[in-house]
Amino acid sequence: MTEQSPALDNLLTESRTFPPSEAFAAKANATADSYAEANEDREAFWARQAERLHWDTKWSQVLDWSDAPFAKWFVGGKLNVAYNCVDRHVEAGHGDQVAIHWVGEPGDTRDITYAELQREVSRAANGLISLGVTARDRVAIQLQMIPEAIIAMLACARIGAMHSVVFGGFSPSALRQRVDDAQAKIVITSDGQYRRGKAAPMKANVDEALAGAESVEKVLVVRRTGEDDVPWNNGRDLWWHELVEAQSDQHTPEAFDSEHPLYILYTSGTTGKPKGILHTSGGYLTQAAYTHHAVFDHKPGEDVYWCTADIGWVTGHSYIVYGPLANRVTQVVYEGTPNTPHEGRHWEIIQTYKVSLYYTAPTLIRTFMKWGADIPAKYDLSSLRVLGSVGEPINPEAWMWYREHIGGNRCPIVDTWWQTETGSIMISPLPGVTHTKPGSAQRPLPGISAKVVDDAGNEVGKGGGGYLVLDKPWPGMLRGIWGDDERYRETYWSRFSEQGYYFAGDGAKYDADGDVWLLGRVDDVMNVSGHRISTTEVESALVSHPTVAEAAVVGATDPTTGQGIVAFVILRGDVAEDQARGDAAIQELRNHVSKEIGPIAKPRQIMVVPELPKTRSGKIMRRLLRDVAENREIGDVTTLADSSVMDLISSGLKSGSDE
Ligand code: PRX
Repeated sequence: MTEQSPALDNLLTESRTFPPSEAFAAKANATADSYAEANEDREAFWARQAERLHWDTKWSQVLDWSDAPFAKWFVGGKLNVAYNCVDRHVEAGHGDQVAIHWVGEPGDTRDITYAELQREVSRAANGLISLGVTARDRVAIQLQMIPEAIIAMLACARIGAMHSVVFGGFSPSALRQRVDDAQAKIVITSDGQYRRGKAAPMKANVDEALAGAESVEKVLVVRRTGEDDVPWNNGRDLWWHELVEAQSDQHTPEAFDSEHPLYILYTSGTTGKPKGILHTSGGYLTQAAYTHHAVFDHKPGEDVYWCTADIGWVTGHSYIVYGPLANRVTQVVYEGTPNTPHEGRHWEIIQTYKVSLYYTAPTLIRTFMKWGADIPAKYDLSSLRVLGSVGEPINPEAWMWYREHIGGNRCPIVDTWWQTETGSIMISPLPGVTHTKPGSAQRPLPGISAKVVDDAGNEVGKGGGGYLVLDKPWPGMLRGIWGDDERYRETYWSRFSEQGYYFAGDGAKYDADGDVWLLGRVDDVMNVSGHRISTTEVESALVSHPTVAEAAVVGATDPTTGQGIVAFVILRGDVAEDQARGDAAIQELRNHVSKEIGPIAKPRQIMVVPELPKTRSGKIMRRLLRDVAENREIGDVTTLADSSVMDLISSGLKSGSDE
């Protein structure tokens, strides 16, 4: 167990609150009564939310928790998720409404209406069927933020195949690990992607990943950058456009069981092996759609929504694809980075498309702060109504900056706490209802129950801190870890097994008003720019380098990225010390991690040390290493097997980093 950041702890005395304006409250989707309504009968509340969707067959039971911790929601119900996200809007007369305003990084744009989306998804579904894909088959998708990514996900959902989206920045070996674990039959990727104005190859990386991958029958390649020399494997590879354009644009969706698997999404745990989080259909879509409606106050046909996440993460799944499209959103999807070609790109897009609901991550807000308030000030941001934050705790300073410089002191901010595992937002203010408070996610949503408990599982009082647990099942909850029921029980349900609570892995605290403050992970998972990375994964990558004998990794507080990865390595005896301690050798280690996992896992800093602090049972004491990484006085060393180790470490430090 690790402790929360002391920096955050000092900030929990927030007394500023911001009530909703009367005008906003009068038209808000959310009402104050919904908490009481849901408390009275949670299942009836969720059944009412499920009725916002189209069901081919209605459920006979809202929740079956008899096989806990494996939940079944809307038992006996049948629906097609893609039909709910696309076709039903066309049938209701909204075919001409723009679903996606797509903005490419180089400046190309494309508007896709619901009618077009229906045709595209149908074609892609027919294409997948022509390749022999059937319900429950796994389709891995590694694509950047282009319309085909969303179309491919919806095409899978339409035919009942499960997608497993792998973030475009993951290395070939990370992709391979995920393809093998899911036994994916098809991989969908692109020829290349634009990154900061340049085309970078993508297909070549996928080829490297898939060498000898036996489950993969076909690789579908979207043409995006149009390079001439795309490596090609005849018989296995197919151009997306050649396959899909030849298909009929008519496809009749089949209704699947409410518990039919929808997707797997891999996320880091406390071991080196990523967990395939499994989500199913009816309950997931119900909660994604309800929360998007209530938390963002989304009004179909009026609002323009923009979630800046990548579809490689759960935020992209629930708040770009499923929740928003189920609610007939008009949304912006942007391919590029926020500073390409200039640091005002987001504000320019908001101005152009009159974006009214904007959802992003604290790390980006802090980056915008660094770039300066004069940049957003040059643009007309008056269309904005609601601002969202997700992925990590938002410090009150960033919250206030966001409110003032982006939201013009008028937009409610929703700080939304949730996880890949929860499927949808769990703790958040409701705009128009909640008096918001900088830095706090405040209160579980209606129909959701969360508590802060102590080590023994007892709820702490106001002002008390401990672990965040979810004490009642919820519709969007994960249904397990792909292929590993035991790991599912062990990871989430064993810590408070007596009480039957889901252990989220986050530290939390109630303030004097009883509002919840999230304090970061309490396990060996780091949160770097809102991305979950396990310390063990980075350690494994480091020790796979021939010069490294042992490695220990910690997440150290970082003013921009939330946490930064700091590694301590012991080099092999036969490595010439001077050479290995040189900056070039340290850079090589950093690049090695980037190559093994992906650039998001590149350590900010690597320190070469003669020893690592271990307990008598051999467990690395990361707490002490974090003290070093954060330049703090070293804490209690009495449980160390050899208490002089910390002196050795502190005296002989030599490190390398970008700074
Ligand atoms: O530590 C919490 C943090 O992100 C973790 C979940 O990461 P992931 O599954 O990648 O999903 C990220 C997007 C939902 C949580 O365990 N986290 C997420 N949102 C917040 C947060 N921490 C504090 N405040 C938040 N709003």
